[in-house]
Amino acid sequence: MAFPAGFGWGAATAAYQVEGGWDADGKGPCVWDTFTHQGGERVFKNQTGDVACGSYTLWEEDLKCIKQLGLTHYRFSLSWSRLLPDGTTGFINQKGIDYYNKIIDDLLTNGVTPIVTLYHFDLPQALEDQGGWLSEAIIERFDKYAQFCFSTFGDRVKQWITINEPNILAMLAYELGSFPPGIPHIGTGGYQAAHNMIKAHARSWHSYDSLFRKKQKGMVTLSIFASWLEPADPNSVSDQEAAKRAIAFHLDFFAKPIFIDGDYPEVVKSQVASISKKQGYPSSRLPEFTEEEKKMIKGTADFFAVHYYTSRLVKYQENKKGELGLLQDVEIEFFPDPSWKNIDWIYVVPWGIRKVLKYIKDTYNNPVIYITENGFPQLDPTSLDDTHRWEYFRQTFQELFKAIQLDKVNLQVYCAWSLLDNFEWNQGYSSRFGLFHVDFEDPARPRVPYTSAKEYAKIIRNNGLEGHL
Ligand code: BGC
Repeated sequence: MAFPAGFGWGAATAAYQVEGGWDADGKGPCVWDTFTHQGGERVFKNQTGDVACGSYTLWEEDLKCIKQLGLTHYRFSLSWSRLLPDGTTGFINQKGIDYYNKIIDDLLTNGVTPIVTLYHFDLPQALEDQGGWLSEAIIERFDKYAQFCFSTFGDRVKQWITINEPNILAMLAYELGSFPPGIPHIGTGGYQAAHNMIKAHARSWHSYDSLFRKKQKGMVTLSIFASWLEPADPNSVSDQEAAKRAIAFHLDFFAKPIFIDGDYPEVVKSQVASISKKQGYPSSRLPEFTEEEKKMIKGTADFFAVHYYTSRLVKYQENKKGELGLLQDVEIEFFPDPSWKNIDWIYVVPWGIRKVLKYIKDTYNNPVIYITENGFPQLDPTSLDDTHRWEYFRQTFQELFKAIQLDKVNLQVYCAWSLLDNFEWNQGYSSRFGLFHVDFEDPARPRVPYTSAKEYAKIIRNNGLEGHL
């Protein structure tokens, strides 16, 4: 199963999850610093990212891992508050610029293409204090930060992701409050935050387009988390509709405005409007884009970046009492098939990734697609043998091969999540997604390859896997 010549094989990380150095060299606090320092058991054993993998001082060790794998691409994120400690360009932290310059230069020297995420969940605390993503003021701030990054690093970075998983972020941070700032706004916060994220993304794309593209010739997009959602009963029309609605609310919610026409899917607008009405709201809880905003948002992505981890079955669940909540707006319940094996929340459904890719191809005019995250956790911190995990990766690659060969999906890059075991948000260090094991008890934070890392290196070397369709 030979992949197309030039196919990109990568791995990904994110600043807060690996860097540590939370207050080193003038870095300002981000929301995860505040949240983890507050304690309160919202993170496993009140763990923090203060040190994490220590990548702020151990970048050379990360580079060794990247070279050992033979990666063609490395996706990492910039810590906004390491570069701009209070989130604004009023003060620029040169030490932060130096750190990322070194990473970028070392990657390029070693023939590895950087894919850079501007913002991966770690908002500068100073901006959260001004309302974070619930406030429209963030749009201007984000755009200024993006322009700063394009002008500082864009001579060498050609592949940009503005916001990591706005769908997950809006839901966990502003709807449910399980991510910082930790305050739930059920039924309203997620939509409001997502609305501002879409506008901020679009603004920064335009800045790139008008100020940098001609000279830098790069590509800008955002990355969207997608699960495949399959009707629980394939013969039930209401389950089929429910599965379509579920995809509309989490994937198309962002992709349709940005890739197609500047506006939310009709089914999202009508569901939220009618349930809001039932609940006595004077207008829909889903904010509306103005005509001018729709024009501004439409067409603001140069490729499609998608994350796939898992799938679920979906069933229609009528919201009879007009209850408040996202699932209640979608009118679904979702659950795994009893035959699917799982590790934690990730049920192993390799064929789901092929369905997601085909859906994107068919719905979004056959775009260039990058999978910028995909992975499985390892729960046993003492074992380097993750053969079972490798089996999931291998099956996933088979599905990618089918997507490219049979469905003619224009998939060009795959990034595994993650290069290293790291701070897995609310799970702290208990859930390990690394290709390399990291010992968080050892101050030197040694990186040691799991079986999966060795197997992945072979796939990269051969640009494909053994066997045929
Ligand atoms: C996020 C990563 C996270 C991974 C595994 C994605 O939603 O972008 O930061 O570690 O999933 O949960």
